[in-house]
Amino acid sequence: MEIIRTENLRHRFSDGTYGIDGISISIRKGEFVIIAGANGCGKTTFLRHLNGLLMPCEGSVMVDGISVTSDPRRARQMVGMVFQDADSQIVGETVYDDVAFGPENLCLERAEVRCRVESALESVGLSSFGDRRPHLLSGGEKRRVAIAGILAMQSEIFIFDEPFSNLDYPGVCSLLEEIRRLHRRGHTILLTTHDLEKVLAHADRLIIMQQGKIVRDGLPEECVKGSDAFGVREPFASRQGMELSSWLN
Ligand SMILES: Nc1ncnc2c1ncn2[C@@H]1O[C@H](COP(=O)(O)OP(=O)(O)OP(=O)(O)O)[C@@H](O)[C@H]1O
Ligand SMILES: [Mg+2]
Repeated sequence: MEIIRTENLRHRFSDGTYGIDGISISIRKGEFVIIAGANGCGKTTFLRHLNGLLMPCEGSVMVDGISVTSDPRRARQMVGMVFQDADSQIVGETVYDDVAFGPENLCLERAEVRCRVESALESVGLSSFGDRRPHLLSGGEKRRVAIAGILAMQSEIFIFDEPFSNLDYPGVCSLLEEIRRLHRRGHTILLTTHDLEKVLAHADRLIIMQQGKIVRDGLPEECVKGSDAFGVREPFASRQGMELSSWLN
């Protein structure tokens, strides 16, 4: 079943340049898709259209059959996004308040909010951080708080924009475990990374972008061959003709 569909999506910035230049794509419910490409190729701009943070200049974006332009609020509920820049996502005075912000906006019971926040903080290894001030945390800790924030939303679709940056080795592994858990539970996952080595083995599909367009789209082990040409490092195992390996193996 299709959960995301874009048709000829284009985004033109105020300076006249195109960040996204004609993306037509269909993503199935439960798919785990990695989007890769050189700096500035349009990954973040594309992802911001999926939950209505940006609106198309041309073309359309449908989430679960409904146009994001016509109902951005619904798109925001369905699509949880961890931003590339963790600082820009902090909204609460304390870590607890920050993670609770999303569920509180869903008008859930207090007890349900507490339960979700505690479980999300535990998933990212920050159970004892509830009273800490988010702005004073390290880069990796801030990223974990942002990840806890979308886990607590229990969205249908999860977007992770460069989620591994700033994370230490155990942090990368526990996030990979969490992503695998979400995937197993049937959530749709879109993730951008410059470091395919860490995660490609777990994905169903790899998309490579260049200058606002999709230039490759298909099975990870096939699409990644020769990806260096697009500014995406081909993992060592793939270069050696071996099966893709994971950081979790
Ligand atoms: N408001 C804006 N006005 C003009 N150009 C912009 C604007 N926002 C982004 N861009 C440009 O659009 C292009 C795509 O940016 P985007 O952030 O989507 O790239 P990206 O693929 O996510 O890159 P990275 O790997 O560095 O995260 C870049 O060249 C960027 O400079
Ligand atoms: Mg980006």
